Amino acid sequence: MLSEQEKLDSLTRLGIELSQINDLDILMERVLTRARQFVNADAGSIYIRQNDWLHFSYTQNDTLERQLPKGEKLIYSTFKIPIDTKSIAGYVAATGRSLNIEDVYSLEATLPYSFTKKFDETTGYKTCSVLTIPLENSSRAILGILQIINARDEGGQISVFSRQDERIMYHFAAVAAVALERAQMTRALILRMIRMAEMRDPRETGAHVNRVAGFAVEIYEHWAVRHHIDSKVIDKTRDVLRMAAMLHDVGKVATSDLILKKPDRLNEDEYEIMKQHTIQGARLFMHQQSDFDEAAGLVALNHHERWDGMGYPGHIDFRTGQPIKEYLTAEGRVRGKKGSEIPLFGRIVALADVYDALSSKRAYKEAWDERHILDQIEKNAGSHFDPELVEIFFSRYEILRSIQMRYVDEK
Ligand code: C2E
Ligand code: SIN
Ligand code: SIN
Ligand code: SIN
Ligand code: FE
Ligand code: FE
Repeated sequence: MLSEQEKLDSLTRLGIELSQINDLDILMERVLTRARQFVNADAGSIYIRQNDWLHFSYTQNDTLERQLPKGEKLIYSTFKIPIDTKSIAGYVAATGRSLNIEDVYSLEATLPYSFTKKFDETTGYKTCSVLTIPLENSSRAILGILQIINARDEGGQISVFSRQDERIMYHFAAVAAVALERAQMTRALILRMIRMAEMRDPRETGAHVNRVAGFAVEIYEHWAVRHHIDSKVIDKTRDVLRMAAMLHDVGKVATSDLILKKPDRLNEDEYEIMKQHTIQGARLFMHQQSDFDEAAGLVALNHHERWDGMGYPGHIDFRTGQPIKEYLTAEGRVRGKKGSEIPLFGRIVALADVYDALSSKRAYKEAWDERHILDQIEKNAGSHFDPELVEIFFSRYEILRSIQMRYVDEK
């Protein structure tokens, strides 16, 4: 247990420590850890609001974690509760009022809410004292709740949360709320960027970006399972990659209409200008503030590289557009990135983008027929495309087709 002095020191440092974390997941875990440390609580959770539901999003439980084999983490089935006054969590989200309950199993029958026993029944855990605090944004909308469970006294016995604990927990709730609001604003901003890019280039409608993103996520997921990536990481990456893939051509906003909307083949000079969309896109995400910025920058920059090194823009510094010296050829030309020099997300979106571009009618070309497209992709495994990803493409082909059917171009 922390002494009063340690608590004070820790609170002072907390603001700085937490403000340096950009990743929402890491931040929420840290908020839970620190909040629990303060009041010596055995368990805690953060629920995030989506419309009329609270989703059980982050959780820590010392007792249950001790029972797990070493190195393993708690796994919860995705669990959500409606925002109404019937449950403890729902009541706090619905009313914006915190609840400090001494024992959830002896709640008075006259109260509107009761304890949801499902969690205890599933895990064998015994919940007793529960402190639940709303997470509110700057305009007092409820973003979720912070719930701290089973306070312990110096002897490790379960006890109740004091008024002082409550006040301190408000501090943690505020930190979590700011982080959550920031993440949600980033997301909203990205969705707005996607709409702006569509307005600029309505030929390539939302359907195109949705298809490319859908293909990319499907291919990634299969790649990740093959490579034994942790399922929690996969879940998180899906979301990040989907947004990033939707923005793969966002750099085209910097291309002139004469080129962007040319109803004919591009000449060599025009094509050179068009290729700048990779660098322009990467620059939009230069000041990385989240995983989204990082992934979006990677995808924008690398989606026209080729596995055989013949793609663009190659080994340049996208900030300046200048070649990176170590990678110049003897003739002084920039070398394309090759094989695994190309980030995975770039390799995935390259395949997804070309598949969709060939399937679509453009101002300058007709859509190809499916047989012809598949031949082209197969033929280009190991030249244009990462051969492993082509293999995955064919093994998931039925699903890719169903994604394609879901997003049809408006005509
Ligand atoms: P996009 O339309 O999204 O095409 C993405 C990529 O799909 C192309 O990258 C290319 O690798 C492939 N692709 C698309 N159409 C064809 C095709 O008919 N044949 C073959 N073999 N591959 C195709 P790329 O070539 O680097 O082009 C980047 C972007 O430049 C294209 O994005 C498109 O917006 C524009 N673009 C490329 N060529 C032309 C052109 O001849 N006329 C016009 N107006 N725009 C072009
Ligand atoms: C509830 O708020 O009723 C559920 C709390 C929990 O199961 O941890
Ligand atoms: C095109 O045909 O539009 C681009 C050339 C290619 O990548 O094959
Ligand atoms: C990554 O996850 O981006 C690295 C894997 C790879 O590029 O092969
Ligand atoms: Fe592109
Ligand atoms: Fe594209």
